[in-house]
Amino acid sequence: MTKAIIAPSILSADFSRLGEETRSLVAAGADWIHLDVMDGHFVPNITFGPPVVKALRPHAKTFFDVHLMIAPADPYLAAFAEAGADGITVHVEAGPHIHRSLQAIKGLGKRAGVAINPGTPAAAIEPLLDIAELVLVMTVNPGFGGQSFLASALETVARVRAMAAGRAIDIQVDGGIDPGTAARAAAAGANVFVAGNAVFKDGPAHYAARIAAVRAGAEAATGGDAFSC
Ligand code: DX5
Ligand code: ZN
Repeated sequence: MTKAIIAPSILSADFSRLGEETRSLVAAGADWIHLDVMDGHFVPNITFGPPVVKALRPHAKTFFDVHLMIAPADPYLAAFAEAGADGITVHVEAGPHIHRSLQAIKGLGKRAGVAINPGTPAAAIEPLLDIAELVLVMTVNPGFGGQSFLASALETVARVRAMAAGRAIDIQVDGGIDPGTAARAAAAGANVFVAGNAVFKDGPAHYAARIAAVRAGAEAATGGDAFSC
């Protein structure tokens, strides 16, 4: 049994001070650091690549959870692994060979995740449950922080949790997560919670309280010990 994992997204950080922001998140109790990589092709926004992950690596021992919103992803997996990613998540929609991508991530010695967009049926990830170690269910359409949580994604969370029964697979939600939506997602079966705006909105003095609030929301729905992975 483990507790909820809270993964603040540095997409909402001050990009001119990313090292300091990363250290602040660690000090504030972040379990993982979520790094959103966007290519302006798979999603309509561009963020950063392996050099930024590498530059941040000395600032934290915390698990670096790299969410790739790029297509193709395979040519860049080794670069993100070498830059210091601990887990790498690739979208099921990003190409025809997602199973190969997950094999490649595991071959690099990293934790393999598959992400699913709000418009994709949960069944798309079913063939991947023997290899994926994490399923990221997008609760907004990927590309931007600060969007509203899509309640329709809760059904996907529930379906993925049911399909993953008996396996040690993390189910992560990402987009519009705050204490209230974290509770709803936890009730549906999520155990990893990405939060951007909800953590960053009032500045560094409030990171610890904001992270604690998301954790409290997630654990209120489950008693904090309902996760089996
Ligand atoms: C969206 C990203 C999210 C985003 C979440 O494409 O994958 O990680 O940063 O931000 P909030 O919590 O503000 O929706
Ligand atoms: Zn993300």
